[in-house]
Order: sequence, then C-alpha cells, then structure tokens
Amino acid sequence: MRKKILAANWKMNLTHIEAESYMHTFLGEIGEVDDVEIVMIPPFTSIPVLAQISEKAPFIRIGAQNMHWERSGAYTGEISATMLRVLFVKYVVIGHSERRMLFGETDETVNRKVHSALEAGLRPIVCVETVLRRQLELGLKDLSVKDAVEIVIAYEPVWAIGTGRTATPAQAEEAHRFIRSVLSKMFGTGPAERVRIQYGGSVKPENAQELLRQSDIDGALIGGASLDPHSFAKIIRHAEAVLH
Ligand code: PGA
Repeated sequence: MRKKILAANWKMNLTHIEAESYMHTFLGEIGEVDDVEIVMIPPFTSIPVLAQISEKAPFIRIGAQNMHWERSGAYTGEISATMLRVLFVKYVVIGHSERRMLFGETDETVNRKVHSALEAGLRPIVCVETVLRRQLELGLKDLSVKDAVEIVIAYEPVWAIGTGRTATPAQAEEAHRFIRSVLSKMFGTGPAERVRIQYGGSVKPENAQELLRQSDIDGALIGGASLDPHSFAKIIRHAEAVLH
C-alpha cells in the first residue's frame, strides 16, 4: 500500500511570521493525522519556523522548493542539500515547471539535483509535465533501484497549474499509469509499484477526493489552495475519507 502524500507548495508566498499563524490554524483543524503523509513546502525563509513547529507535530514533514546540486562553494544565492538536511527537511521539489520555464532548469540539472539530494538523505519530489518519458528517463538517469523507490513523482500538466483547470480524474489516472509503466521499464515492476505519484494542477477541496480515489494517484502537490489553511485542511480530510 502506498501512503498518500499531500504536499503544500507555497511557492513565493507567506513570510515566516504568516507561516506561524497559518500552522496554528491548520494544526487546530486537522488534529493528529497518521493515515496520510503531510508535507509543508514553504520558501526557505520559513523552514526553521516550520521545523520548530514540527517538533510538536512530528507527523508534519518539511520540504524545500529547490536546491543546488553542489555541496558547497561559490554559488551566490544557492542552497545545498546538506543545508536543508540539517534543518530537518525531508523532501525537496526538483524540476517544478516554473523552475524549468522561468529559471532554465533542464533534465540534466534535474538529474544532478536528484542524485545530490539522495546522497544527502533527502527525498526528491521530481516534477514532470509534458514529455513524460523523456523527463523521467533523463531526470532519473543512473539511479539505483534502492534510490528510485525513495522518489516521489509529481505529474503536473502545465495547462492545469494555477489556472483553475484540472485534469479529469480519468485523464490524470491515465497519465499516472503511463508514468508507472515507464518507471517499470527503468527499475522493474516491483519498485515501480512502490513509487508514489502525485497529481498537481489546480487541486482544491472540490476536486481532491475524486482525484485521490484513482488507484494510481498517490497524493497531490497543491499550490494555490494550500495557501489557505482551511482549504488545505479540507483537502487532508478528503484524502483521509478516500481511505475509509
Ligand atoms: P496550483 O499549483 O495548485 O496552484 O495549480 C500546483 C503546483 O504548481 O505545484
């Protein structure tokens, strides 16, 4: 059984002060959750505050939105995997379509980052959107089977991101099956069955349950709707409802 993984990608939103009050509201609404995995992915500046909060709510995992592939060095403005790891970050988003489109991220840089993240003990959430087979084959190139099962894939059709338009559950399920078939060729069927594949793109309380009911949709990467603690809490409730 793949545990559903619901991740809040705040993108460049919320100060660390706002993050603190968000978490107060959010935790108050969800109580303790252990049947689905929750990952908060704030901007770097809010990671320490979230790390502190998660000491009291250990079921909350923390993710980062990006990282550099080198361990350290003269890379002004960059953050390394180790820097994230020591802040108790567990996941890192790699190759989000906004980074590919606006910041020149390529399949090659994605691949370097994936290797470097795993080496540092972080679990990559690798985003793919259009040319799925190529993005998977190049982005996950030279990974061992042991590493491959640590990865989460986020399927995010670009036309659905921030637009209010969502893939239908059937469309999303079909893409997820295709992704699993590519993973299966790369790493074998058993390992491919263990990899969690999230759907992303205008997920909100109104459509979450239907999407999460699909057998190959193992979670969601949520942007806009995750900025409101009430709406993210509702999505968590829907994810739990799918299990019962
Ligand atoms: P959205 O963003 O939910 O606002 O569409 C999803 C994402 O880009 O991760």
